[in-house]
Order: sequence, then structure tokens, then C-alpha cells
Amino acid sequence: MRLQKAMSYLGLCSRRKAEELIKLGKVKVNGVLISEMGYLVSLNDKIEIIGEIKKEQNLDKVTFLFNKPLGVVSSVKDDRGRKVVIDFFKNENYRLYPVGRLDYNTSGALLVSNDGELTNLVTHPSTHLNKTYIATINGFVKDLHLQELRDGVELEDGMTERALVKLISRNDNKSVVSLTIHEGRNRQVRRMFNHFGYEVKNLHRESIGFLNLQGVERGKYRKLSNSEVIQIKELCKKNKEKNVIPTYKSK
Ligand code: URA
Repeated sequence: MRLQKAMSYLGLCSRRKAEELIKLGKVKVNGVLISEMGYLVSLNDKIEIIGEIKKEQNLDKVTFLFNKPLGVVSSVKDDRGRKVVIDFFKNENYRLYPVGRLDYNTSGALLVSNDGELTNLVTHPSTHLNKTYIATINGFVKDLHLQELRDGVELEDGMTERALVKLISRNDNKSVVSLTIHEGRNRQVRRMFNHFGYEVKNLHRESIGFLNLQGVERGKYRKLSNSEVIQIKELCKKNKEKNVIPTYKSK
């Protein structure tokens, strides 16, 4: 990722401010002064702004599973002053950032980490990690539409891959559907339902891979164990190497 983008992603400053600081020769990467705009870095690189006094941070790698409430931005800082995910981690002395994102109005499972390798693996489309969502939509969802959601839906950015779709309940006013997908396109679940004219009233992510929110209340988090971190990385690497695309039952 470009240096200025990484600085804003990590919450060090805005992207514009980062560009200014780079031009002024005030940014070091792994101890080396960088004045090249667009210099490529990884999230594991040590990025510092010269002259800024920061309290000493714990550099050990750590990942948390967070149960994101509604009305929270998946980022480190928000220009509009809204509550952000990292506000919930004030007691943790790590430079944390969200791994991917959930919409402001989506609740549920979100990883928060300082581990660049884990972030790249979990967010990269080639690792095909399953994510399960519970969507509450307006109206009675038709069987035909459930089948099309399973088989693939034509969106502006192309056809969606096969999905695992289970009907939980439905009546004339609302339907509740569980949907497992392994792509991470922007607002994908909402757009898949919008395609048929349904409106998603509520969206909650239940799980990421084998990690679910059991025992993690809304607005709370738990630290992943070393073995969970190893397993999630291994799962992503295996999927990527073997190009394993999850297959789901057609009904
Ligand atoms: N799909 C959406 O539409 N929104 C999210 O937050 C996640 C997946």
C-alpha cells in the first residue's frame, strides 16, 4: 500500500496531511527518511512522523474479535467526528486498525489487529474466506430470488459468486435470511438484495471463517488465541494456494 494511504489507514493523520509531511521530509519508514510520494509499504513496517512524541507502544502482534454495534465507523479516525471502532480499544496499548470494514449500519464480527500479514490474508479476495451475515429485509422473499442469490446475481461490478443462502423466517412484512459469501465487495449483501428490489433493514455479520461471536457482547471484544491466529492464517493460505473456492449446496 502507498505510504500516504497507510498513514491514514493507521490513523496517524489524514492522507492529505501525510502527503504534506512526506514532501517536508518528516516521515521515516523502518528508520529511513522517505521523501518519495507513493513509496510502497506494508502495514507491518514501522512508520513514524519525525518530531512527534508518541507513547511507547506494544509491538507484539495481536488480533481481537470485536462485536461492532450499529452506528460505528470501521476506521481509526473519522473526519466527521463519528464514533469509530478504535474508540472501543482505548485500554489497549497497540496501534490497532480494523481488518476490512463493515458499513456504519452493519453490526457484528469484525477483526481488529496490528498484524499486517493477517490483515492481508483475511481481506484479500484470493483467500476466499467465508463470512456469514443475517439480513432482515422488507417483505416476503421469493424462493426464486433465494435461488438466484445462491447461484449469482449480476451487480454493477460483475456477477457474484455462489453463496450459501438459508431462509430463517418470512412473512408479508419481513424476511430473515442467512447468507454466506466469500467475496468482500463494497456493500455486497445490501446490493444483492437491492437487485431484486428488497431493502435490507438490518444487517449483522455472525462469523468470519470459523470465528463466531459466541460469548462476545455487542460493543465488546475478545483476544484471539495464538492457535486461532495460526489457524485463520493457514486456512487463508491453503485456500489461496489451492485456489479453493467454497462450494455450497445449491439449495
Ligand atoms: N455487505 C454489506 O452490504 N454491508 C456490510 O457491511 C458487509 C457486507
